[in-house]
Amino acid sequence: MKILLAGGAGYIGSHTAVQLANAGHEVVIADNYYNSSPEAVNRIQELTGKEIPSYDVDVKDKAKVDQIMKEHKIDCVIHFAGLKAVGESVQKPIEYYRNNIDTTLTLLECMKENDVHAFVFSSSATVYGEENPAPYTETMTRGRCSNPYGWTKSMMEQILEDASKADPELSVVLLRYFNPIGAHESGRIGEDPQGIPNNLMPYIAQTAIGRREKLTIFGNDYPTPDGTCRRDYIHVMDLADGHVKAVEYACENKGTEIINLGTGTPYSVLEIVHAFEKSNGIKVNFEFGPRREGDLPEFWAESEKAEKLLGWTAKRNLEDMCRDTWNWQTKNPKGYNA
Ligand code: NAD
Ligand code: UD1
Repeated sequence: MKILLAGGAGYIGSHTAVQLANAGHEVVIADNYYNSSPEAVNRIQELTGKEIPSYDVDVKDKAKVDQIMKEHKIDCVIHFAGLKAVGESVQKPIEYYRNNIDTTLTLLECMKENDVHAFVFSSSATVYGEENPAPYTETMTRGRCSNPYGWTKSMMEQILEDASKADPELSVVLLRYFNPIGAHESGRIGEDPQGIPNNLMPYIAQTAIGRREKLTIFGNDYPTPDGTCRRDYIHVMDLADGHVKAVEYACENKGTEIINLGTGTPYSVLEIVHAFEKSNGIKVNFEFGPRREGDLPEFWAESEKAEKLLGWTAKRNLEDMCRDTWNWQTKNPKGYNA
């Protein structure tokens, strides 16, 4: 099948591109490199040995997206092209709503005009909100989000559900990711955050390599076994494999499916720090600080639906996640543009 990856040069998109190409699918990338580098596309080509058509376009630009869909006979679209920094979304809500929602609407309009009927969407566990107890299951109703980023995901899920209800030809798979970490085992592609990382694993890796002085653990007085927050960390290569299955499912079925992509096992921040130290034989300097606003004490996935519907489960363990993160970090200490 031929798959258009909107935002395919980013962290999750680049790993998915590799796994789709390895599974025998054709991949086309559309990305404006707002939060990524064309070097990621070079490395996807190097890892797969395949020519990957790529376009430097803003996915809000309908004429350009339409042109790509006319040039390639696309079977399925995966929409990764979102702004994703939670704190920034509080400062710049209009930019977040404009980018995330417009890209979704543009893709849906162009798909309709070009007879493309399968859509896989990068959603997030954040849409469960604070009302739902862990583990999160797909039958729970969406909750209240604590920030505009989360609301864009919640709204886009609603838009996509409505679009597939109105169009019996349209198939939508809403993938709710938990906490993706790790990198391709080659160390050629990985997460390359711009500026100070917001997320835990890149912060740990940059601290270990000396780019940051110390990690601050946000709160150690939560009602969890060691007082630090617990999350469901998932290897980005497992997540990528989940997309391959989701694309194949979306091309063979109609309607909307919501699917969690997580491991079903939570780890605390302290457990992650210690696992990173043990897997890589390196110390991570850290201190405890106050809680971060908007953080929930703990959540993880109920992951049975993905197994039943897609035949997918996460295969890589925490040691793999820590080792592959460090391999990427040490081989690319300053990311793609070193
Ligand atoms: P990323 O920033 O690395 O990738 C997103 C890509 O989309 C980037 O390459 C960026 O340049 C591109 N992009 C953004 N707006 C665009 C536009 N208007 N036109 C063209 N390209 C555009 O992020 P990621 O971690 O790979 O996340 C991918 C998706 O998954 C995002 O939608 C994100 O919200 C969602 N998600 C990520 C996580 C996570 O922890 N990484 C968790 C849950 C959901
Ligand atoms: C965050 C977002 C979520 C988004 C996801 C992926 C919030 C509330 N949620 O999830 O919407 O989908 O990123 O982009 O921001 N931590 C530290 N020190 C640090 C960084 C993190 O202690 O320097 C802790 C956090 O308090 C949290 C855990 O590590 O308990 C994981 O944090 P992070 O990687 O930012 O992911 P989430 O907050 O789970």
